[in-house]
Amino acid sequence: QVARTHEPRYDVTALKEELKMHRIQVLSKQFNLDSEAGQQVGVTLFPTAGSQAYDRPPLIKDRSDYERLHKWSIDDPAGFWAEIAKDFFWSKKWDDNHHTYNFDMRKGRIECNWFKGGKTNITYNCLDRWVASGHGNQLCFIWEGNDLGHERVMTYQQVLNDVCRVANWLRAQGVKKGDCVTIYLPMICELPIAMLACARIGAVHSVVFAGFSADALAQRIQDCKSKLLFTSSAVNRGPKRVDLKHIVDDAISIAERNGYKGVKRVLVYEKSALPREQTPWVAGRDVWWRDEIPNRPEFCSPEWMDAEDPLFMLYTSGSTGQPKGVLHTTGGYMVQTGTANKYVFDLRPGDVYWCTADCGWITGHTFLTYGPLLNGASCVLFGSTPAYPDPGRCWNMIEKYKVRVFYTAPTLLRSLMQFGDKWVTAHDRSSLRILGTVGEPINPHAWNWFNEVVGEKRCPIVDTWWQTETGAAMITPLPYAWATKPGSATLPFFGVQPVILNDKGEELQGACEGILAIKKPWPSIMRTVYGDHERFEKTYFSAFKGYYFTGDGCRRDEDGYYWITGRVDDVINVSGHRVGTAEVESALTSHPQCAEAAVIGTPHNIKGEAVYAYVTMLSESDCTPAMKKELVEIVKRQIGSFAIPDCIHWAPGLPKTRSGKIMRRILRKIATGAYDELGDTSTLAEPGVVDTLISMKGK
Ligand code: PRX
Repeated sequence: QVARTHEPRYDVTALKEELKMHRIQVLSKQFNLDSEAGQQVGVTLFPTAGSQAYDRPPLIKDRSDYERLHKWSIDDPAGFWAEIAKDFFWSKKWDDNHHTYNFDMRKGRIECNWFKGGKTNITYNCLDRWVASGHGNQLCFIWEGNDLGHERVMTYQQVLNDVCRVANWLRAQGVKKGDCVTIYLPMICELPIAMLACARIGAVHSVVFAGFSADALAQRIQDCKSKLLFTSSAVNRGPKRVDLKHIVDDAISIAERNGYKGVKRVLVYEKSALPREQTPWVAGRDVWWRDEIPNRPEFCSPEWMDAEDPLFMLYTSGSTGQPKGVLHTTGGYMVQTGTANKYVFDLRPGDVYWCTADCGWITGHTFLTYGPLLNGASCVLFGSTPAYPDPGRCWNMIEKYKVRVFYTAPTLLRSLMQFGDKWVTAHDRSSLRILGTVGEPINPHAWNWFNEVVGEKRCPIVDTWWQTETGAAMITPLPYAWATKPGSATLPFFGVQPVILNDKGEELQGACEGILAIKKPWPSIMRTVYGDHERFEKTYFSAFKGYYFTGDGCRRDEDGYYWITGRVDDVINVSGHRVGTAEVESALTSHPQCAEAAVIGTPHNIKGEAVYAYVTMLSESDCTPAMKKELVEIVKRQIGSFAIPDCIHWAPGLPKTRSGKIMRRILRKIATGAYDELGDTSTLAEPGVVDTLISMKGK
């Protein structure tokens, strides 16, 4: 048992100083915005025909308002962001010359610094700020679990207290600033709380989506050398139970077999899905949340972090090799994430905001945890699947919690559309004001359904394009400020200067199509690949010198709107989740009977893209339905269920150039049956393989 401290929670003199210095007055004023509710404002440009006036003046009122600010952000990034950064609390202001960067490898190593010399703590900005300004009783999290009736709300004060308790526990375990902590939790309030607790003391969190397998988790634990892990006993997802603690135990054993024996502590949150008595246990290493956390002191002084100190890492797939740990730092990420959340969703304190992402992905970091809390929003957290127990679940929650902003993935929309409109229209959606999508291109059919059926043609849809690496939304509509077009992410966010390049790396002008790159750095850009700066430079800055390479194709139309056309590298986007073809290939070829594999993405009605695998076995007699099951199992075990191939296509040979490069273009055409679009096959080492592959389709 830990004695409760009597440390006063706030130093009043410091608080007064803070009020003066850091614009809490301004923030409090924002709380009064409700008095303007209902006021009809004269916005002329509505995003969709038939929209009614917004219930309050939008932060950015029109395109010229935006263009003025955007121009400032590009012409004078240091000045622009310094002004924005004043809305956040800094325990020490940044140096005058805070913004230094080099985006050109010809001029030495890629580096990027924002607010250098400044000190802050993101959790102070997410939590203490609101509590200190009298809003501790406002709802911070509104959680709904897998089963109907499993509901919980937490105020900002309660979340702050819990974050502090966990942070104190972490300190008591010897976790220090800069140490990595792995979080493998389902969508419960304790997941963002664990993230914030790490950030409170300057530990670097690495959240691993709790749908990843033991192998994938092991690889991520080893890579960042975590000594400590958060998990839960199990979780129910729809009708299924997932035994997370079992997976964690397996992962730690795998890491140990690979030579990493560093995990010293596992903190386990007990879920009713699997009670304590039935949870596998390693005495001396594993401890229960309920035994360890509630008695800790409810205040923990924040570690004041340098702006460029690491905040978190998040593993993501690339076109080659193992997933990479994308590293984000404190100051730039905080400022841009808070700002993006504020403008993209026109967010004000107290707004009920629901982002359906899981914290295991970047959207769950930026637009579910840090972004909305930096803006004092009340966030809905959802711990189930959208059609459980029936396809009306999401719309029911929107009605129940009076959700104002609903941000989701096109896949979720496509999966719910198929059940018909009645599930939506049975619920009152009049609280909705802004809708958003992220993660993959949205097809106009899904966009129109979102607009017409869900939003009743009165809510703008913000189709936000960005990446794990960019930290926050990069190309996105700002609601109510300009007209949107179904399938276009429209215009760049403040500080973002996208360019479209041709294959030679030349910038194209006006309406055009090519490769999307970014010209100047922005505060929330990743700083490095954890432990491998060379890989960072090579992946993002070597393809086109002087630019950040996104990996996406893009078109710009005559209105200057951007349309993302999908990945141009070997990354597949399955339901908005990135899967590297190389990772799936490496899983498949780890089967002793498998000689070779080539993986591509094919269009899928619901998932956007599906994994399609061409597999060459050592012997033809291995090409059996039972073997397909084994191969599926191996992908599930090494990566996770979401990466399982929808189709395994036996390939006695693969189409390769004479230099041995697999021609995936041809594989894509065969997969979709577009045999008359195969193009030139004369450069193939063995042109005959194409006919053989076609004859093997469906076998
Ligand atoms: O291909 C783009 C696609 O998702 C990729 C980034 O994936 P990830 O790092 O997992 O982050 C997803 C959530 C931000 C991009 O390279 N993508 C993301 N948003 C969109 C999109 N494609 C089209 N439209 C979008 N709005």
